[in-house]
Amino acid sequence: MTTMQQTAQTATNPNGTPTDSDALVIFGVSGDLAKKMTFVSLYKLAERGLLKVPFIGVAFTDWSDEEFKAHALQSIKDCGQKVDSGVWDAMSAKMTYVQGDYTKDETYQAVKAKLGDAKNPLFYLEIPPGLFLTAVQGLHAAGLTENARVVIEKPFGYDYDSAVKLYGQLSQMLNEEQIYRIDHYLGKNAIQDIMVWRFSNRMFEPIWNSAHVESVQITMAESFDVADRGSFYDRVGALKDVVQNHIMQIIGLLSMDPPSTATPAAIHAQQLHAFESMRPIEPSDYVRGQYTGYHDVEGVAEGSTTETFVAIKLYIDSWRWAGVPFFIRTGKNLGCTATEAVVVYKRPPLQLFKETGCPHPERNRLRFRFGHGDDGVQMQVQALDPSSQMASKPVVLNVDFSEALGEEKLPYEQLLGDALQGIATRFATQKIIEGTWIALSKILANPGPALEYAPGTMGPRESDALIEHYGGWIAPVGSKSDQPA
Ligand code: BG6
Repeated sequence: MTTMQQTAQTATNPNGTPTDSDALVIFGVSGDLAKKMTFVSLYKLAERGLLKVPFIGVAFTDWSDEEFKAHALQSIKDCGQKVDSGVWDAMSAKMTYVQGDYTKDETYQAVKAKLGDAKNPLFYLEIPPGLFLTAVQGLHAAGLTENARVVIEKPFGYDYDSAVKLYGQLSQMLNEEQIYRIDHYLGKNAIQDIMVWRFSNRMFEPIWNSAHVESVQITMAESFDVADRGSFYDRVGALKDVVQNHIMQIIGLLSMDPPSTATPAAIHAQQLHAFESMRPIEPSDYVRGQYTGYHDVEGVAEGSTTETFVAIKLYIDSWRWAGVPFFIRTGKNLGCTATEAVVVYKRPPLQLFKETGCPHPERNRLRFRFGHGDDGVQMQVQALDPSSQMASKPVVLNVDFSEALGEEKLPYEQLLGDALQGIATRFATQKIIEGTWIALSKILANPGPALEYAPGTMGPRESDALIEHYGGWIAPVGSKSDQPA
């Protein structure tokens, strides 16, 4: 396969706004991600009238167009989606399939033939990371990259050096504006809501800093185990599977300064500033764990020390966040499934009701709940306990987004819809990805042991020591572990 040096373009209208893509090509369309997420998301886009372009699926599986369509339809139904025959007929009429090997030129020639007159295709690479470069080289050699956008699945690199190297290679063929690094957490409404919550309300931003915030905790707990993903997971581990991407993106939104405008460039610039100010995490602020029984999972190497749990303390050395620890914990086979971020405020400056024998009030907490059908925000504030003279008692103000705001889009529905329109806000830039890898560089170089923990717990107890001076881990809503919610 040959690669010519060529300056690629971003497809824009004469007034500079992005041009809508005129075709969608998905590589890796026979895989698990497509089955569980992509087809149903495209169906939802079609239902909203937003999938108007031809859709070409590419994979190694030997399918006819009809078999490809049957697989897509079954996948949509398996996701619990009710299928309207009118929507499906219109969608499937635009679908075709290319069977091919990603290392062969003829695969890309076959894609080219199917693309016909399309000028601004969107290529989505939901393929193993080792094939990202091969696929882009193939598309480039076939002359298909000039006005294209390319959506690349995670992980982008496996450390800082490999992320820089991959970008160096891709940028021979694509410019930064053409590369859409997808992270489905950025497609979740409740996660993007962090920005709206902070910058569309007057009352939070003035106290969103080290003068008022004592610490921030992020928990991404999963009660299920590695299951049939052993050979993938064992090469990655929790740090690269979810911290470098999903959790870091949450921290970017929580810690960024207000952007000067709502453009992708201005938003990304502020997120980057947060990552540039992030201190590389010290091995002493890192606890790794592995659940008992992990070695029995198919595909896991004998004696593997891959972590299935991590707990981390990190700092962002910016004016806003100096001295405020951000705590992270995530793992498989834990006591509950929940993703949350809790901003913990300092106590009031004065213990005013001390004389009447009242204890120091609890800290205020602002809790964001992400995903798993339970999106929302809770504020824990103090109210007068009616059974006492002047003592306070924590009460919770709660909003459930599904009830208050209605149905949300699926993450990939949002992100693929955005990519088709050239809206880059919810995608990570190269510099942001590099920033996340730099933050993890010291602990990747010096990971330490993986401590065993029992399935159904919240990881090794050693993780408690990281946070004990900050009131301990806060239990996710609905779970019984840790401190009361
Ligand atoms: C994926 C990880 O990116 O995100 C999985 O590879 C993880 O290991 C999943 O379970 C979590 O996504 P969600 O949307 O279910 O929270």
